[in-house]
Amino acid sequence: MEQIFALTKGNFAAQAHVGLPEGTFEEEHGRDGFFGRVSHLYHAHPPTGWTRIEGPLRPHAINTLELAANGEPVTFLYNDDVALKLTRPQAAMAYSYRNADGDDLYFIHRGTGTIETDFGPLAYEPGDYIVIPRGTTYRLLPATADNAYLLIESKTEIRLPDKGMLGRNALFDAGVIQTPTPAPSLKADGEWELRVKRCGEITKIFYPFDPIDTVGWKGDLTVWKFNVRDFRPVTSHRYHLPPSVHTTVLARNFVVCTFVPRPLETDPDALKVPFFHRNIDFDEVIFYHAGDFFSRDGIAPGMVTFHPQGIHHGPHPKALLNQGKKAHTDEYAVMVDTRNPLKLTPEAEAVEWKDYWASWGAHA
Ligand SMILES: [Fe+2]
Repeated sequence: MEQIFALTKGNFAAQAHVGLPEGTFEEEHGRDGFFGRVSHLYHAHPPTGWTRIEGPLRPHAINTLELAANGEPVTFLYNDDVALKLTRPQAAMAYSYRNADGDDLYFIHRGTGTIETDFGPLAYEPGDYIVIPRGTTYRLLPATADNAYLLIESKTEIRLPDKGMLGRNALFDAGVIQTPTPAPSLKADGEWELRVKRCGEITKIFYPFDPIDTVGWKGDLTVWKFNVRDFRPVTSHRYHLPPSVHTTVLARNFVVCTFVPRPLETDPDALKVPFFHRNIDFDEVIFYHAGDFFSRDGIAPGMVTFHPQGIHHGPHPKALLNQGKKAHTDEYAVMVDTRNPLKLTPEAEAVEWKDYWASWGAHA
């Protein structure tokens, strides 16, 4: 709906995130992520200033590096559209793998290696996003001993967003995307195993040759990757932009956004920390990759925060107090926002930081 005017009541700021009335805490109460109808509420207290929560709804934090490290992916959050997993392979996969259930998007948190695919091999390193279309045969060959990859499994095709008014070269230019060139081993010795996942079940298919034997390909469906160092965020010196401006890839009912170091707003009246919100149309997940996570106390690389729809989140008290002191952010993080509620797995609950909900406590 086209917005022509805003209703205004009581003590309010004429523009969102700018010149908040003295002593108030701004909340953005909006629909459709940060794109729909919206009101800004000016609270007398931070909405995260709770003293106790009874019932299942609360913010969560887990250290994904503590999930069982048997080399297989461990799911920590999931719904019908997407599953978030962490995998810590300790050696090269002894089989090839094909996911018939969805696209696989890897984010390399730790470790280097090579992924061999139907389309050819690609070397990878920390900060790489690797998109593997559904049905592609591949295997991971880590070159390092300490590996941690975030795996986002999507039921629907992973695509690039429409960059809209920013233009098609914004955020990252397609020129930085790397695609594989075939280099098959063409080995036809022994037995080669291919594991296909379909409806969550594995079928093993055996060949007397390496099934990754493509000698050439053409088309526009392939494995591709790019590194977060090539991600060039948009910022405004006068207006705190919503996190959705960092949308990197998307699929049905979820988006993946990338936070990289960026300058903070310089206008003295502009808000410099994320605004409070109850994200009523999206569950929000952030995987912290590297750097200093300025709006969150107690968060280290490899941790994930999960803010379900309906309960507020926003900056920690220290971030709010220090917002005038920092000139830029230092964080690298991957955000996954899902339209449908996510469920935490028992494996995730086992390594959960149980008191995360209380980490805004100094507000109270
Ligand atoms: Fe949020």
